[in-house]
Amino acid sequence: KEVGEYLRTKYSHLITRRLRELNVYAEMLPCTQKIADLSWKPKGIILSGGPYSVYDADAPHVDPAVFDLEIPILGVCYGLQEIAWNYGKHVSAGDRKEYGHAVLSVTHHTSASPHVDALFAGLELELEVWMSHGDKLARLPPDFLTIATTSNAPFAGIAHKEKPLYGIQFHPEVTHTAKGKAILENFAVRLCQCRQNWTMEKFVDTEIERIRAVVGPTGQVIGAVSGGVDSTVAAKLMHAAIGDRFHAILVDNGVMRLNECQIVHETLTKGLGINLAVVDASEEFLSKLKGVIDPEKKRMIIGNTFIEVFQREAERVMRESGGAVDFLLQGTLYPDVIESISFKGPSATIKTHHNVGGLLKNMKLKLIEPLRELFKDEVRILGTNLGIPEDLVWRHPFPGPGIAIRILGEVTPEQVAIARKADHIFIEEIKAAGLYRQISQAFAALLPVRAVGVMGDKRVHDQIIALRAVETTDYMTADWFDFDGKFLRKVAGRIVNEVEGVCRVVYDVTQKPPGTIEFQ
Ligand code: XMP
Repeated sequence: KEVGEYLRTKYSHLITRRLRELNVYAEMLPCTQKIADLSWKPKGIILSGGPYSVYDADAPHVDPAVFDLEIPILGVCYGLQEIAWNYGKHVSAGDRKEYGHAVLSVTHHTSASPHVDALFAGLELELEVWMSHGDKLARLPPDFLTIATTSNAPFAGIAHKEKPLYGIQFHPEVTHTAKGKAILENFAVRLCQCRQNWTMEKFVDTEIERIRAVVGPTGQVIGAVSGGVDSTVAAKLMHAAIGDRFHAILVDNGVMRLNECQIVHETLTKGLGINLAVVDASEEFLSKLKGVIDPEKKRMIIGNTFIEVFQREAERVMRESGGAVDFLLQGTLYPDVIESISFKGPSATIKTHHNVGGLLKNMKLKLIEPLRELFKDEVRILGTNLGIPEDLVWRHPFPGPGIAIRILGEVTPEQVAIARKADHIFIEEIKAAGLYRQISQAFAALLPVRAVGVMGDKRVHDQIIALRAVETTDYMTADWFDFDGKFLRKVAGRIVNEVEGVCRVVYDVTQKPPGTIEFQ
């Protein structure tokens, strides 16, 4: 069920994303949400999939008031079973589980109420769909019609005869369901009559207004930037709203990529006009990392030192501003918010680096998170609209602990220099081959072991660089990128020739799971 819970978040999160791609505003709420506590009235509700069986004693159920709202409801997978459970408990364990592709046959009911056929309106009668379920409907609930079947699921799609109430056994949110987005569009636009007015142009205007109202005419904000897309977009948005009353701080921790600090500094100040202070704390970080090999210790040291340095710098800014700084900017995105939504309460898996605000509690700063409603793809569109250079907008993610968790042994200035150079060559070649946007994340890691090699006519005993490049949409699962041999040969040749101390290059072909994206 833990794996299932993880997949639930993943799939449900995709439903929200697909609706946003249709420019329809959607929020993901936990199933414990009481309709009476909602401050707005939804135009429609989608009940998502989940790892439980509706007949389990501990199965989560939606607020029954959902069914009294008189608005269209679409149940997906577990959501279909939840509807059936609500209308007569006709759900049982399937005789076999079904995962993967299936062919859906659509049944139209021309003599029934027109809403019955609306979910599959305009689509072919046979559709490729993606199934992932163990339970299925044993019988059709009373007053429902079958609107789709597969060879293994006689009730793969159902609709209520009078009300706009639908259930589908397959997942329309995954790309393997070829017409999934059209089905969601039929639901959201045709049936719920949602307006398709959720755009990033509109978001900029309303968010700038909101920031100005929250911060007030003289209020000031501080925030850390890392050179990544989220913190840069958040910073630029803040700058657009309150100009130099926003103070950005870039901490050089000594384990950033080659020339990164310099490049970020130039882009943010000269290019984007952001009021930025760069703090070179590289020696402080590197001296604390001396002798440390354990990856979690490295993370802790870097995290804690970051907070110390940031706090020092923030106090300086506050002193200089006469104590007028009240807000701390964070680039939190919607997936981080979703991650903490669970009917069991906040998830224990929320990453520690999202809790910087909490650790600065003694400074009594209020959090301001202008991106907390957005998905990464929306942040990228927003960044482009705000004039942030393409290179930065499409940057691969980079972990807070930086190169320190890509050096598998002790982090010394010499090891950092080797890892940086190799990484730079790899990324440079990926860009030159036009592959950067196709790959989700790529980097070089430095292994703490030595191998024998022959350089010129000399025998050497040098280190090994491991290259990692993955494709992923959500960073929770990932596949390695299939480079051609010629490309890898070129990168390996350049690294062993140009990076002193390295005599071998290997390419990591492990999927996630079981491997993680980073090596540590
Ligand atoms: P893994 O290695 O868990 O990585 O498959 C998934 C994504 O998270 C990033 N990552 C981190 N980011 N601090 C961060 O800010 C960390 O400690 C950290 N560890 C992993 C990783 O780069 C990948 O994008």
